[in-house]
Amino acid sequence: MTAAADHLRPLLEKLTLEQKAALVQGADFWTTVPLPEIGLRAMTLSDGPAGVRGPRWDEREPSLNLPSGSALAASWDAGLAYRYGAAAAAEARAKNVDVVLGPTINLHRSPLGGRHFECFSEDPQLSGELAAAYVAGMQDGGVAACPKHYVANDSETDRFTVDVRVDDRALRELYLAPFERAVTDAHAWTIMSSYNSVDGVTMTENDLLETPLNTDWGFDGVVISDWTAVRSLDAVAAAQDLAMPGPAPAWAELADAVRDGRVQEADLDRKVLRLLLLAERVGALGDSAPAATDEIDGPAFAREAAVAGTVLLRNDGTLPLNPASLRSVAVIGQNARDARTQGGGSATVVPAHVVSPLDGLSAALPGVEVSYELGALVQEGVAEIPLAQLQNPVTGEPGLRVRFLDAEGTELFAEDRRSTALVWFGGDAPIEASRTVIFETRFTPDESGTIELGFAGANHGRLYVDDGLVLDDSPVIEGTDLGAAFLNPPSLTTAVAVEAGVARTVRVEFSREAAGALAGALSATVGIAPERTPDAELIARAAHAAASADVAVVVVGTNSRVESEGYDRTSLDLPGAQDELVRAVAATGTPTVVVVNAGSPVVLPWADEVAAVVQGYFGGQEFGHAIADILTGAQEPGGRLPTTWPAALADVPVTDVTPQDGVLRYTEGIHIGYRAWLKDDAPPAFPFGHGLGYTMWSWDDARREGGEVAVTVTNTGARSGKQVVQVYAERPGSAIERPERWLVGFATVRVDAGASATVSIGLPERRLAHWSGEHWSVEAGTYTLRIGSSVAELPLSLAWEVSE
Ligand code: BGC
Repeated sequence: MTAAADHLRPLLEKLTLEQKAALVQGADFWTTVPLPEIGLRAMTLSDGPAGVRGPRWDEREPSLNLPSGSALAASWDAGLAYRYGAAAAAEARAKNVDVVLGPTINLHRSPLGGRHFECFSEDPQLSGELAAAYVAGMQDGGVAACPKHYVANDSETDRFTVDVRVDDRALRELYLAPFERAVTDAHAWTIMSSYNSVDGVTMTENDLLETPLNTDWGFDGVVISDWTAVRSLDAVAAAQDLAMPGPAPAWAELADAVRDGRVQEADLDRKVLRLLLLAERVGALGDSAPAATDEIDGPAFAREAAVAGTVLLRNDGTLPLNPASLRSVAVIGQNARDARTQGGGSATVVPAHVVSPLDGLSAALPGVEVSYELGALVQEGVAEIPLAQLQNPVTGEPGLRVRFLDAEGTELFAEDRRSTALVWFGGDAPIEASRTVIFETRFTPDESGTIELGFAGANHGRLYVDDGLVLDDSPVIEGTDLGAAFLNPPSLTTAVAVEAGVARTVRVEFSREAAGALAGALSATVGIAPERTPDAELIARAAHAAASADVAVVVVGTNSRVESEGYDRTSLDLPGAQDELVRAVAATGTPTVVVVNAGSPVVLPWADEVAAVVQGYFGGQEFGHAIADILTGAQEPGGRLPTTWPAALADVPVTDVTPQDGVLRYTEGIHIGYRAWLKDDAPPAFPFGHGLGYTMWSWDDARREGGEVAVTVTNTGARSGKQVVQVYAERPGSAIERPERWLVGFATVRVDAGASATVSIGLPERRLAHWSGEHWSVEAGTYTLRIGSSVAELPLSLAWEVSE
């Protein structure tokens, strides 16, 4: 390091040892230490990556909720990924955020990985190209991106301690590769080091932070630790630059350690210089100013991105629907009404509104009778109480009053909120000093009956209804991941009889024993668990509605107990009785379109029995409009699978996410995803790259010209459409072990009906290279390039001779 920061040395020299030691640790949860003496303001870091939450997790400061990572990757569109980064940068700037903690570019090694929804794909080329585009779009907007989590953080079980054993070749060719592109192509200004170990050394102390990141790739930015991942002063000698959040207990003695020679001052100085350079880049130092950003229509972009990332898996011709000839549509499924637009955990943002598929279809089909049935329960635990049913007892406005009391019962702070599901993770409330936190509201239900009222959190709660104590208990936390308990806490409920229109005072007193790393954070929800209607009754009602409709749209999906940060999945099945529901609806004979609302693959055992299957992922806040656009044919589904879709968990080649004695071995080496499926010669339900559109294509010609492949396709159908041209390489007879076929390039193209288009895809020789143990090496000989619309549908091919 690094000529780029040389001009900042005079500033470094002005700093005392204490100032330097403070600067390499956060000031708090989300900000860095300001040093006004040298013109350095605090920099604010914020989670994303599917939008930007901002330093407060607060419904009063909402954020644009973009489709999750797997949906973005399903677009296979680097131009869209660039605009996605730019849209997030615009959000960040509006919230005074300097660094967005994303994109998440660990790989889909196993579909069980809990943060699969947040990560892009199973392929390093696809993930890397989109990561570079996202980073460029964001940084051109003056905001630092922070690709994460470096590296081999591909599952969640024991994520703080797991020691991943992965051979060098797999590490370089697969897991490091997306980070390499983000650094070498897009010059990422920061990278996040992960919690886990690789080959026995925790990542914040691991040599991989120096090589390849700094030495081979020329990274000149800041390595930011994952939250609390810095464990000791050994991380100072490693290329770990900023410990977050701060002040970091493990670095409390940093200045002393320099004084007594345990730590080299030069190591500290290097970090400080990098931080100053970052500050200059984002406009936090002296007169430096961040790049200007364009105005972006966030909701319009979110809708476009959701359309681009939605995959039509199967269609018997029922889609697109013809709104002109439709009289009635039966919309069915809990996720149709309570859509999941994002996955759970630190990636959560709080959107101003969410458009459910039911909302979207109702808006898109005026004059059509749109009915709704729940069909099957998906939600587990309590969900927040609708704002319209709440009155703040102090202000009289919609919402609730939240009060923070110390051990003596003295009120330290109070605030008026508009959601009963609240998280404090930084912000104004004195969480650490509070011993009791009280939620109070006047709740007026809109239906009479018995509800399951309760709360969720990691703390003991006392629930009072009209001053009567009805629940007094502590939710049981499963597992050891405090983060998971915090981000997705367990619930407790009790049956309460209510009458429509009659207000009840609801008060929950949470008592806190503040301790540990999350002492300054709190997550608590007061809410209602779903009614306990028998499955058979819900399904019968749904089938009845479907039977008399022209078409049934069933939205199936996962819930936050299944897909979230902090734990892995144990099954790929849809929760609850959703499979029975789909079968019962399809059995009515009404054409049945199934929309899947999940961030990762789920098993669809009835896929052949329904008219169409649309994978909508976690489609962001405009999800419902995007689904309506696609079902009505206003737009074409733009997505292609970024991950192989299995028919059953038992078929999946790589599933192991559970460490044995603390160690998780990537024994499959370079064979993950479609590479592994090809090796096993096993057919998945839907192959990598697969996705249908509403038109037809001919694949006309492919030529290699210079460092590119030019591919010509013709849209032979009756409407304009999108094609994703995918180029794979094969090397039959190779002297080294290789995947049977691997993705080397791709491009999206939009073509009008009857027209042809030629796309050029850059193909540097490096795409053929393997990691020899020491360096990249391209084996001489003949490679075959195979070109088409998925890893299994490759009508064009050509040879590529590589000489010695
Ligand atoms: C997650 C990161 C996140 C950080 C801050 C960690 O637990 O792994 O992805 O950026 O928390 O919320």
